[in-house]
Amino acid sequence: MFKDQVVLVTGAGQGIGAEIAREFAKDGAIVAVVDFNQETAEKVSADIKAQGGQSVAFQADVSDTERAAEVVAAVVAQFGKLDVLVNNAGITRDSSLKKMTIEQWNAVIQTNLTGVYNYTKAAFDVMTTLGYGRIVNFSSLAAISGNFGQTNYSAAKAGVIGLTRTVALEGASKGVTANAVAPGFIQTPMTDKIPEEIKQKMISSIPVKRIGYPSDVAHAVKFFASKEAGYITGQVLEINGGMHI
Ligand code: NAI
Repeated sequence: MFKDQVVLVTGAGQGIGAEIAREFAKDGAIVAVVDFNQETAEKVSADIKAQGGQSVAFQADVSDTERAAEVVAAVVAQFGKLDVLVNNAGITRDSSLKKMTIEQWNAVIQTNLTGVYNYTKAAFDVMTTLGYGRIVNFSSLAAISGNFGQTNYSAAKAGVIGLTRTVALEGASKGVTANAVAPGFIQTPMTDKIPEEIKQKMISSIPVKRIGYPSDVAHAVKFFASKEAGYITGQVLEINGGMHI
């Protein structure tokens, strides 16, 4: 389905991003694995190659604007194009508003929102010049419903929705779509940090009665990223087992 397409996934060293990278590679894509953590980025990339896929790893902090331009330029120099950008990298620095520090606020905005801007900005030029592109951004249920202790995260993820819609408008006549996924509660190292008792409580409130898996999200990302989804842009797909019906 993605044979010989070039796909860049940020935050692909673990969790949902790693699953997305592996899924695209299985479908024939050349996958650029970008992560803050060099070791995990290289491991995911090596695993893909060991399975017969094509991949290249980059260490990068998505909040670094110059590095984003460098990474995208390196991918285009090596493979001649960039078909799909998945802005998956994200962090949490949870705290009630009362206790939240400006450092916690800035860290989350810089990674989860400015990071999306940085890679979208760098990729958009390439995609619009070549007349084709699929951008898939990561929002969250927290952007839509709010979440106690996540003022910074909810704000960044709501910002991602606004960014996505505007990029969709600006790219629409140039063959470039931009959509967002808004996952609910997905089993990854990010949510492994949540105490078991709270996790069980959350699962009992999910209508489908289970936690989501990275593959649940990866399938949705691939849908937005497919050639066939060219008439779908500026949309937000909630992937949460019915948590927000
Ligand atoms: P995770 O914490 O398991 O993995 C995130 C990856 O991003 C890590 O490999 C990390 O090294 C990388 N990363 C973090 N900061 C970075 C930076 N500044 N530059 C480059 N790479 C960086 O997270 P998970 O759960 O896989 O989340 C992926 C995305 O899904 C995030 O945007 C998250 O906010 C979003 N999401 C996750 C949910 C969940 O329940 N797990 C729910 C809703 C949204």
